[in-house]
Order: sequence, then C-alpha cells, then structure tokens
Amino acid sequence: MQPFDFQLRTRLIFGPGSLNQIASAIAPLKGRRVLLITDPGVREVGYPNVAAGLLEEAGYTTQIFDGAGENPTTEHVEAGVVVAREFRPEILVGIGGGSSMDCAKGINFIYSCGGRMQDYWGVNLATAEMLPMIAVPTTSGTGSEMQSFALISDAETHVKMACGDKRASFAAAILDPSLTLTQPALVTAVTGIDALSHAVETYVSKRRTQVSQLFSRESWRLLSSNFAKVLNEPQDLEARGAMQLGAAWAGLAIENSMLGAAHSLANPLTARYDTIHGQAVGISLPHVVRFNGEEYNDWYSELLQVSEGNGASPPASAGATGLAEFLTGLVERAGLATRLSECGIEESAVPEMAKEAAQQWTAQFNPRRVSEIELRNLYEQAF
Ligand SMILES: [Fe+2]
Repeated sequence: MQPFDFQLRTRLIFGPGSLNQIASAIAPLKGRRVLLITDPGVREVGYPNVAAGLLEEAGYTTQIFDGAGENPTTEHVEAGVVVAREFRPEILVGIGGGSSMDCAKGINFIYSCGGRMQDYWGVNLATAEMLPMIAVPTTSGTGSEMQSFALISDAETHVKMACGDKRASFAAAILDPSLTLTQPALVTAVTGIDALSHAVETYVSKRRTQVSQLFSRESWRLLSSNFAKVLNEPQDLEARGAMQLGAAWAGLAIENSMLGAAHSLANPLTARYDTIHGQAVGISLPHVVRFNGEEYNDWYSELLQVSEGNGASPPASAGATGLAEFLTGLVERAGLATRLSECGIEESAVPEMAKEAAQQWTAQFNPRRVSEIELRNLYEQAF
C-alpha cells in the first residue's frame, strides 16, 4: 500500500467549442492583462488570435508572444520574459503543444521569482507567488496542462531540466478537441505515442499510488483504443476527444507517480540528435517493457486487462511481451521508426548516452533498477 496526498489543482473544461469559454474560465482569476504564449505554427493556425479576440471582447488587454519552440530552451523562456517585463501581465495563457505550456510555466518562474531557469531545476523552488495561468492544449501529448512541472532545456548544455512547483500548476485547462483537428499528421503520431508511453510508464513507476493508477488505467483505455482511429480518420472528433482526455489523465498520472526508463533513454537522443521526443520514446519503450516485465509481468497484464477486446490490443495473458509487441505495432502504424539505426544514431555514442540516461531524473522511478549498464543494454537492443 502506498500512502498519497492528492489534490486536483486544475479546473478542467472539456468539450468541442470549449475555447469559447475562455473568458468565463479566466474570470475567477485576478487581473485584466493577459499574455498568451504560443509557437509560430499554432499562431499561424489562428487559435491564439481567436483566444485573444474573445478576451478583448470581455474587456481584457492581451498580448501574444509566439516565441515558444519545440523542446523549449532557456532562450525561448528568456525571450518571453523580456516581452512579459514590458507588457506586465497579470495572467498567462499557454496555448499550443507541451512546448507552449512549458514555456508559459518557465516565463512565470522567472517573471514572478527572478533569477534564471536553472534556479528552479528541482521541486518547489519558487520564491514568490506566481501569476495564475490557463492552459489551452492543441495537441494530445505531454499532459503538461495537468502538471506542475516545466521541462526546459539548457540552451548551452542541452540538459533537460524538470522545474516543478505546485504554484506553477495551471488554474484551469480548456480541452477543446476541435483544436486538435488541425494538427499535422506527424504531430498526431509523435504526441500520441508520447501520451501512450506516459500511461504505460506511470502505471509501473516506483512512485505509483492508488490515485496515479486510476489515471494511468483510464488513460491507457482511451489512448490504446483511439490512437489508430485518429491516425486512420484525423477528423474523427470523438476519437480526438478521447485522445485529448487520455493525454490529460496521463499527465495527471505523471504528476502523481513520475515516469520511467523509456524517458531516461529518450532524453539523450533528443539532446544529441534532435530526435523528436515521441519518436525517441516510441523506440525505447517496448524494450523497457520487456526488461521490466522480467519482474513485473503481472502489472503489465493488469494494464492489458483494461484494454482487452479493444481493437488490436492483446489479451491480459500476453503480459509484457504482448504489450511490447502491441506498442511496436502502434509505432509502426504511426509511420515512425522502431529502431535507433533508422534515426541516424551512431552506435559509437551509446556508452556516453547510457551515462547521460543514468543521470536522468526519471531513471530512479523505473520499477527495476537501471544503472548505466542496463541502459546501455537497452540502447543496444534498440538498434
Ligand atoms: Fe513524454
């Protein structure tokens, strides 16, 4: 039995068209000046302008910062802080994928508490109250909208810093599945695989609790049965909604249980080779499941029980091996690579990457102990 202390910090507003409720979602928060944080791609699609228009109509003063980027770095955050210092916002809105939401959290840390991003690498290091924030995810991936952590890479060292503080949680998240219809196919693929990996890794994490398992299971049920549907039928709003909720529940599971070795293996691939996060996790996860399954086969069977009979999901009796094969099938189905050799990774980099993977924060939460040696073996299997 694992004791827990659970509190939902984020109000959730879900449904097609719910972006229209942004003014009423923001109304309980203190302030009239709203800075919207997004990336250039999402801005081009138009959602930040729509959100800003709705807020202006309701009497708010708004500004858009579109300098967030994929795998946000300290530079993206600093550029946003410059804009914030000039505009003096009272409320922040992160609108876009995980990078926009994490960038909003990063800007909030520095704008509210001073210093630089590195000062907040760790847990509960904020030194002041932070601005209230709203999240409007336009992808179904990281689940950042439900987390108090921002993942920001050091622009110089490329080290991914997990900066978490309860005060960096979003006051509300608007989950409008219609916003996810315009995602490019590759984004649907890599964010979907990432969300699936969150459901799987959180379910077996050392920190798992009754609460995190609740969210992992429901997340797995939704994601495993809807991922192929959104790949086949990108305009299927029902399936898009299930993916968006699944990703949010998985985010909540991460908040309450952390992740595992597949994420430790993925980070050095992204840092060194710019491998897209979902692609990197998609390659590493099946190997981690097989490895963990040598001791925790029952846990993976439990997860399969949730999805049994749903589409191509294998029966619970298939255990870790069946789950690993199912996951590889989904990665293939998404049009992504299943081997490191297909991604331009050099085998000669494995020893160094294994060292870096062992230093990742997530490694300590993997159910089976992973040191440099095990991680090196896992990389080698992934070639
Ligand atoms: Fe992830």
